[in-house]
Amino acid sequence: MTDIRVEVARYRPGQDEEPVFQGYDVPLVADWAVLDGLNYIKDQLDGSLSYRWSCRMGVCGSCGMTVNGEPRLTCGTFLTEFGGGPIRIEPLKGFPVIRDLVVDIDGFLAKLSSVRPWLVREGEELPLSAEYAQTPEQLEAYKQYSMCINCLLCYSACPVYVLDPDFLGPAAIALAQRYNLDSRDMGDRFDVLNQEDAVWGCTFVGECTRVCPKHVDPAEAIQRYKVTAALRSVLPWSRR
Ligand code: SF4
Ligand code: FES
Repeated sequence: MTDIRVEVARYRPGQDEEPVFQGYDVPLVADWAVLDGLNYIKDQLDGSLSYRWSCRMGVCGSCGMTVNGEPRLTCGTFLTEFGGGPIRIEPLKGFPVIRDLVVDIDGFLAKLSSVRPWLVREGEELPLSAEYAQTPEQLEAYKQYSMCINCLLCYSACPVYVLDPDFLGPAAIALAQRYNLDSRDMGDRFDVLNQEDAVWGCTFVGECTRVCPKHVDPAEAIQRYKVTAALRSVLPWSRR
């Protein structure tokens, strides 16, 4: 069977001063994803390689890496996409590296919780047995944003975030809009979103939307909230 050369960025704290590339030959199996290639390396060639994955089906969002310069889900990217290779695998750009291909996502998690990504209710609560019924149109208003799997490819592709790690960023803003546009939500996320490091930091490059594997459109979410925020300065009671 033909092999394909896979070059993997290694960074081992206490051992490497900076990341170095290590090459491995991996069988070019037609239905192997890049993640299968990494699992082959880990199982057969080098058990010290570190990376994250879980579901293997584009659902958990944990296997995002930089593959030949592009942020990709490695479980949804096939070895055969790269001809005869080589394939170069690096951690997601813009995040501190903990080890090899594992990045530190604590900063993102703090941003995510700052937008309160849940249904905020104020005042009277319906009993747990009650339904919060919605029409198909009300569901459609936010549905695409609910597809986000927190894979962080959009952050890695965003030139604003890579230059300014304090930028709230595409997924956190898209998820804020997922709740802002939900007819059941009563939360107000204006103070978090209406900031230079939030929606006003976006220069509308649109790379976030291009790389999203779940067809979320964070760029649209951000531009839409700019309109909401601008309207609020003239109509302070308008919240959505
Ligand atoms: S918006 Fe898309 S690219 Fe960004 S974290 Fe969510 S699923 Fe991933
Ligand atoms: S392993 Fe879960 S999205 Fe790739």
